[in-house]
Amino acid sequence: MDFETLIRDVPDFPRPGILFKDITPLLGHGAGFAAAIRHMAEPWRAAGIEVVAGIEARGFILGAALARELGAGFVPIRKPGKLPGRTLGADYALEYGSDRLEVHADAVASGTRVLLVDDVLATGGTLAASRRLVEGVGADLAGAMVLIELAALRGRERWSDTVPLRALLRY
Ligand code: PRP
Repeated sequence: MDFETLIRDVPDFPRPGILFKDITPLLGHGAGFAAAIRHMAEPWRAAGIEVVAGIEARGFILGAALARELGAGFVPIRKPGKLPGRTLGADYALEYGSDRLEVHADAVASGTRVLLVDDVLATGGTLAASRRLVEGVGADLAGAMVLIELAALRGRERWSDTVPLRALLRY
C-alpha cells in the first residue's frame, strides 16, 4: 500500500508561502491509514511501550491508533485549559509569540515506558515541549515517532540524541 500518495500538498496554507502537508486523505483511506500505523509501530514493537502520549490535535488520531497497534494506553498532551485535573505545563516559542501544552500530573506512574507521537515535526518546539512534560511527570521516555519530518526546518536539532526520534516520511 503506497500510503505516501495519500498525503496532499496544499500551497499557501495556513499562510502564504507555507506548503501544508494534509493528512486527511490518508486518514480517510482504510487501507492507507492501517498501513501507515503499522509502519509507524514497526520500530517500537520490542521497545516495551506501555503508554503512547499523543499531541493535540492530529497526534491524538495517530497516537490513539498507534497505542492500539502496540497494545499500549493513551495519554493526551493538550492545549491549555482543556484537562480537568492537576496539570504540568510547558511553554514554547513560536515564530511570533508563544504557546503552551499541558498534561495531567498523574497521567502515568513513575518509570512508565512512554512513546511520544505527533503528525509532523517542523521547527521541533512542540515535540521538545512535550518531551519536557512526559519526563516531568516521571515517564521513562522510550522515544518519539512522527509521520512526517520537514527536514528543512531542522526540528531534529532541538531533540537530543540520547532518546530516538523517528520519522516515517521526510520531506
Ligand atoms: C502542528 C503539528 C505539530 C506542530 C509541529 O500542530 O501538528 O503538532 O505543528 O510544529 P513544530 O515542530 O514547529 O512545533 P498545530 O500547532 O498546527 O496544531 P493542531 O495539530 O492542533 O492543528
